This record gives sequence, C-alpha cells and structure tokens, in this order.
Amino acid sequence: MAITIAILSQKGGTGKTTVTRSLAEGLTRSGMKVLAIDADPQGNLSEYFGVPADAFPTLGEVLAGQEKAVDAIHDGVIPANLGLAEAELMLAGKIGRELTLRNALREPKRRYDVVLIDCAPTLGLLTVNALVASDWAILSSEAEHFSEQGAEGAMEVIGLARENLNPDLELLGILLNIADMRTNHARATLTMLKESFGDKVFDTVIKRSIVYPESARAGKPIYEFRKRKAYDYASLTVEVLNRLGLEEPLAEAEQQLAAIKPPA
Ligand SMILES: Nc1ncnc2c1ncn2[C@@H]1O[C@H](COP(=O)(O)OP(=O)(O)OP(=O)(O)O)[C@@H](O)[C@H]1O
Ligand SMILES: [Mg+2]
Repeated sequence: MAITIAILSQKGGTGKTTVTRSLAEGLTRSGMKVLAIDADPQGNLSEYFGVPADAFPTLGEVLAGQEKAVDAIHDGVIPANLGLAEAELMLAGKIGRELTLRNALREPKRRYDVVLIDCAPTLGLLTVNALVASDWAILSSEAEHFSEQGAEGAMEVIGLARENLNPDLELLGILLNIADMRTNHARATLTMLKESFGDKVFDTVIKRSIVYPESARAGKPIYEFRKRKAYDYASLTVEVLNRLGLEEPLAEAEQQLAAIKPPA
C-alpha cells in the first residue's frame, strides 16, 4: 500500500509543483515506485512531467466518476487540466464529496510505493480531497513576510481535515522554499519557522535558483536538467525517507546525495 503525501501551501507560487516533481524523481532514484497526482486545474505538474496538453483521461474524469484512476496514469502522473475546475464544481453538490479522491486512489495505491499529490494554491475542495486521501502533508513555505502566518493557516486546514475527515493525517514537515539565504530576511524567516514549528521544519532549505523554472520549461526533472543543481532536492529526499523510516530507499538516497557535489 502506497504512502501518500500531499504537498500544499496557504498561497500560490511557493514551489509546490517543483517539490512534487523533484521529490517524485528523488524517490524514484531511490528505488521507489512513485505516482504523482496533479490536483491543480492549472496543470503545471502535468507539463513538468511532459504530458501532452490533450492527454486523456485526466484527474477531472476520474473525480467525475467517468474513468478509473489506473486508466488515467500517463508516465507516472495522473494529469490535470482546466476540466478539473469543472469536476470540482460538480463534486461540491455530492454526498461524500471530500472522499472522492481517496476512494479513486484505492487501486493505484496498491500498485505504487509512494503517491505524491500536488495541490492547487487554494485550500478548497480539491485540496481537502488531497488531504483526506493522504497519510502525510508537506507544507511548502516561501521565504517572505508573513510566511509564518501562512504556515499557520495551512496547519489549521490540516488540523480540520484530521479532526473531521482523516484522523491518520500527519504533518511530515514544513519546507522553506525558494529561499535566498544570503538575505537576512530569508534567514529570519527560517528562524521564525523553527521557533513556531520546531523539529517539523526540514533542515533542508530549497535555495532560489533560475534552474528550476528552466527545468520546468524543458519538462525535465532537475536531476536530468542540471544534475549538480539537484543537491537540495536530493537532501530533501533523504530527510523525507528518514522521517518516513524507510531504511532501504534511505540508504539509496544517501548514496545519491553523496554523489552530488554540494554547492559552494
Ligand atoms: N527553488 C526555486 N528557485 C527559483 N524559482 C523556483 C524555485 N522553485 C520553484 N521556482 C519557480 O517559481 C515558480 C512557482 O513555483 P511552482 O510552480 O513550483 O509553485 P506552486 O506553489 O506550485 O505554484 P502554484 O501555487 O501556482 O501552483 C515557478 O516558475 C517555478 O519554476
Ligand atoms: Mg503548482
């Protein structure tokens, strides 16, 4: 049965999709069978996976009950497009609307080791579905003013999902993302997050670099696009596997990390 992790944040543009794509790659390179789910009608994750825009079926058809999730897997991802926004509206009027993704993923979860769900920037029904379908949540937080409050808001949503719908949901960690650690500001944000959330904050910080948008544009994971820039995500992969207590892939991930030269 796959371990399922939702990647979310309180607001847009904090690097969720990049985390999902890169972690999917890091975990795959550690020997795990990974399925990624694009739960955002923007379809950025699908693009990052190089899935053609007209791919069919997508998550929209799955949530509408027209197609099976296993039939919607294209090269390791269940893609999404704007049709997913329509599916979300349709879901809203249904009984058990929060459980739809969880139920749909039952079969694929038997076939994979890990399922990663890239959430939309809104904390709406799609994101609630992602949280109900997940064992863990990773919170991506950009290094900027008020990111601490943003993290608190997202934590509240995780808490609500846990209390009302999914008692098994746990926070895997909070990730400081797109950070320029040369600035006082980013360092202060990290300190603040650690004061508020303690050990839940990942030691790994994903630093700001132009290679991420470039790799997304090329539709290639960072490991393939510019291997030596994969250090931060290789380090995150190690931390994630460590927190999950998965020894075998962890050993593999540590070797992967050791093979990449740390940035100067
Ligand atoms: N570490 C990074 N350094 C610099 N740019 C980054 C980094 N990570 C992601 N980006 C870029 O920042 C933008 C937003 O990232 P991404 O799409 O991953 O965020 P998101 O949280 O999924 O956004 P949305 O909320 O719109 O779904 C993209 O152009 C992406 O390529
Ligand atoms: Mg995104």
